[in-house]
Amino acid sequence: MAYLKILTEGDETLRKTCRKIDNITPRILTLLDDMTETMHRANGVGLAGPQVGVLRRIAVVQTEPDGPLYELINPKIVSSSGSVSDYEGCLSIPGKYGIVDRPEKVTVEATDRAGVTFRVTAEGFLARAFCHEIDHLDGVLYSDKAEKMLTKEEIKELEQD
Ligand code: NI
Repeated sequence: MAYLKILTEGDETLRKTCRKIDNITPRILTLLDDMTETMHRANGVGLAGPQVGVLRRIAVVQTEPDGPLYELINPKIVSSSGSVSDYEGCLSIPGKYGIVDRPEKVTVEATDRAGVTFRVTAEGFLARAFCHEIDHLDGVLYSDKAEKMLTKEEIKELEQD
């Protein structure tokens, strides 16, 4: 596995719309492994293709160290409900957090590494992570949607929790 360079805000790659993946090649499988390693090493809970310079519809999400790893190929939100405002950050916007309104509950449909279509229904922080990563595939950053960005003092409080 390899650690990939994470692009940061200002890089135009983060603003592109990604192409669908038609064939799950060995290269795609290696990319999933590398993205997971990169996410773990960067202490992130999600990572999307454009963040590592790959303009394809692919993302990994793992919101808890012992929780499930979601490998998402061509993910889309097929249903959503509710709404909740909470903070989020992004490996491409280091050191910052913002308050973003997201659905409370979403169902995501995606293809797994074996080429099998699956659905996962998530609530709360996991639902937020899915929405955040899928936005990346359309060139959208959370900062575009944030009702406000946290101040340095607010970030300090957050990091003490
Ligand atoms: Ni992000």
